[in-house]
Amino acid sequence: MFDSISKSLEKPPIYTKAKAAFWNDEHISKQMLKAHLDPEFEGASRKLKFIQESVIWIKESVSPVKYPLLLDIGCGPGIYAEKFSKEGYQVTGIDYSKRSIDYAQQSASKQNLDITYLYENYLDMDFKKVFDFATMIYCDYGALSTSDRKTIMQKVYNHLKSGGKFLLDVFSMEKYKNFQENQIWESCPVGGFWRNDEYIALNKNCKYSDTVTLEHISIISKNEITAYYLWNTYFTINTLTAEAMEAGFKVSGLYSDVAGNNYQKNSATIAILLEK
Ligand SMILES: C[S@@+](CC[C@H](N)C(=O)[O-])C[C@H]1O[C@@H](n2cnc3c(N)ncnc32)[C@H](O)[C@@H]1O
Repeated sequence: MFDSISKSLEKPPIYTKAKAAFWNDEHISKQMLKAHLDPEFEGASRKLKFIQESVIWIKESVSPVKYPLLLDIGCGPGIYAEKFSKEGYQVTGIDYSKRSIDYAQQSASKQNLDITYLYENYLDMDFKKVFDFATMIYCDYGALSTSDRKTIMQKVYNHLKSGGKFLLDVFSMEKYKNFQENQIWESCPVGGFWRNDEYIALNKNCKYSDTVTLEHISIISKNEITAYYLWNTYFTINTLTAEAMEAGFKVSGLYSDVAGNNYQKNSATIAILLEK
């Protein structure tokens, strides 16, 4: 028992992927869906008020008339996708959470929205079509390793028409500075976010390199000890721009967030609008 706990707490090499499923785990995905759909909670999607402002700004900046075919990467249960569709985009959403995609499909069908949803790993995406506009919203880009970021940037580039746009956001170095290294344990006798039944969670937050953090969570329950790794890479305008340009993109706009607020040095996020 002690050896298993101790092994689960070992510091993994940077960007190690945990063996256990996260987005697609039967129980965790249920909690994530709840988090996505809570209009006042920022855990999985941003608050509804921000999303509404964001969609208005996006529509004004990258008009659905000129850029109708929109690919929403990591679309979750379709909160943005539905609003994009109502604003006149022809939306394709891709996500690797089966629960989110099932919810999104049912919700679109109830509202008669013509949205194509795909349950797929975006790192493997290979559509036989190109889009006018792609979005990857709520800092999912920074959750990827350096090589996976390279893959997604190139894949998005290849899936856009010439002149097509790509909007994404990332956490900034300001957010990195405020990241607290700590170790916390949590006892959940009636279950909670990680499991349906009793468990103990050992949470360790640590800074890796100068731009990478890990939230390392070890779940101890009656039957198992399981480690989860939530990585985050933080960016400056220069490091983000360099990764985009390596794939062939030009920078078309820089903002504090995907609601188009002016870029500020102390903003926790950076949003970038790229052009192929
Ligand atoms: C932080 S959430 C953001 C969801 C949505 N963009 C929003 O703002 O409401 C990230 C989403 O990316 C999805 N995701 C993570 N890794 C993925 C992958 N490799 N392929 C497809 N989707 C993935 C998750 O399932 C989750 O729905």
